[in-house]
Amino acid sequence: MFNSSIEHNYTKLASLEHRKKYAQFFTPQPIAKLMAKWLSGNKKLHSVLEPAFGLGIFSRELLLHRQNLKIKGFEIDDNIFNAAKNYFNSAQNVNLILQDYMCNDWQNKYDGIVCNPPYFKFHDYDNKNTIKEIETKLKCHLNGFTNLYTLFLLKSIHQLNENGRCAYTVPSEFLNSDYGKLVKKYLIKTKTLRHIIVIDFEENVFDDATTTASLILCANDNITDKVQFTNIETMNDLKEIENLISIYPEYSKQSKIYSSDKLNHEVKWKQYYQEQNCVKYKNLVPFSNYAKVSRGIATGANEFFTFNLEKAKERSIKERFLLPCICKSVNVKKNYFDCNDFEYLKTNNKSVFLLNAKKVDDINVKNYLLKGQEQGIDKKYLTASRNPWYSIENRPAAPIWVSVFNRNGIRFVRNVAGVFNLTTFHCVYPKEQDLFNEFNMDIFFAYLLTDTARNIFADNSREYGDGLQKFEPNDLNNAKMLDLTLLPPKDKEKILFLCNKAKNNVREYNDNYFIREIDKILNRNFMI
Ligand SMILES: C[S@@+](CC[C@H](N)C(=O)[O-])C[C@H]1O[C@@H](n2cnc3c(N)ncnc32)[C@H](O)[C@@H]1O
Repeated sequence: MFNSSIEHNYTKLASLEHRKKYAQFFTPQPIAKLMAKWLSGNKKLHSVLEPAFGLGIFSRELLLHRQNLKIKGFEIDDNIFNAAKNYFNSAQNVNLILQDYMCNDWQNKYDGIVCNPPYFKFHDYDNKNTIKEIETKLKCHLNGFTNLYTLFLLKSIHQLNENGRCAYTVPSEFLNSDYGKLVKKYLIKTKTLRHIIVIDFEENVFDDATTTASLILCANDNITDKVQFTNIETMNDLKEIENLISIYPEYSKQSKIYSSDKLNHEVKWKQYYQEQNCVKYKNLVPFSNYAKVSRGIATGANEFFTFNLEKAKERSIKERFLLPCICKSVNVKKNYFDCNDFEYLKTNNKSVFLLNAKKVDDINVKNYLLKGQEQGIDKKYLTASRNPWYSIENRPAAPIWVSVFNRNGIRFVRNVAGVFNLTTFHCVYPKEQDLFNEFNMDIFFAYLLTDTARNIFADNSREYGDGLQKFEPNDLNNAKMLDLTLLPPKDKEKILFLCNKAKNNVREYNDNYFIREIDKILNRNFMI
């Protein structure tokens, strides 16, 4: 909606596939204008870097007011690069370079760096050289996987001149995820972070609406050690941002302001900008006292490894080579999943089987595996690392599943059918014996369905755009829950009575009268 005409025209010409390949999602003009304004706050702004140039919306904004800037832009896709070159043809002071930003230009520093970086998962297995270079240059250690945008941000902070300003728009996910810890640590260590603005618009103003965005404003100026967090929800709130940029190094309100050294890179930063639900309750304990959450089975090639009845018949794969397995969370509508539910899915030809080809002694299974090899399924990232390539992860069927992505709060499902699950759900394994003698699965599960539990878990979620919440297994393992052992025996009995009613009356637990009654008991006992 706020796309300027250049971006708009490009979007019409380039295929969505091409744009996705390069993460070509454009910054809305009002946001680009604010970011340019932050850079202009550096009175000595002369050299500017745009690390992911696209069509140069930031440079266009900057040049409106400062024609004499010396701008350098990096772009990796020659398609958009040529379009940008055409547009900036007559601008002598704009130097566009068709190169990967992460592998080049480490030696140069800038007065201003402004960027909407590409969002890609970044695994160290396919980027060994780049990883090494980043680790050496930034004197840090990257582990496993991260997301390219955090690496862009790290590098840009490293490239700031004295008094240099940096403005990035990135998904807010890094604030609350494991892979974000490194960049958070670096922001604290360099004392360059000044403002984090978390944008949670109800309407989709961003071109790519899959994530909530945040603006990261940094300054390498030693003027202050304060960091302010601001939440904005409508385009009108942008005025507030404009104000906080213009009064820097002063800070407007006194709320949500922290000294750099008070920030902890290990924790979710959500607690600095969003009121935590758990503060409303007393007697909270780690969820991991009660249960352990692991991700579901990852096959590396779901199309190949999953079966419905028809496919099994077609390939003559016998049921003894197939594990009953939930492959898609949409197939599970209720909070209680039993054998009848499984049979229903099976007879309706849903994909509810997983190939279990251990000790292959069957010609049809052998042939199917050979077909897989012909298609290169054995060479995929996960399958290539397994021995044999078609073996599946060995984990017991989980008695409780929990949804990974949620629009209406976290969803738990009691799996009494003993069915396995792919990564569409995480597995919840209650610690039945160890922690408290009187573990009662019914009370535990009833608790998981209450709003109280949902609210407390929400403190540990990652937010995507449009109210979409995501939980990784460790978000849940590190979450809190009420210490149910402290419930008076009478209330425990009452809860048990209510959950039996809930189970017997309707198997759809959501918005269930009995669950709401359980919520009331919990509130009476635990609410502060
Ligand atoms: C999210 S878009 C932002 C475009 C523009 N700056 C804006 O804000 O509207 C990211 C741009 O970076 C480019 N890009 C992707 N990977 C890159 C890399 N490694 N080095 C430089 N540019 C890259 C993409 O082709 C795309 O044009």
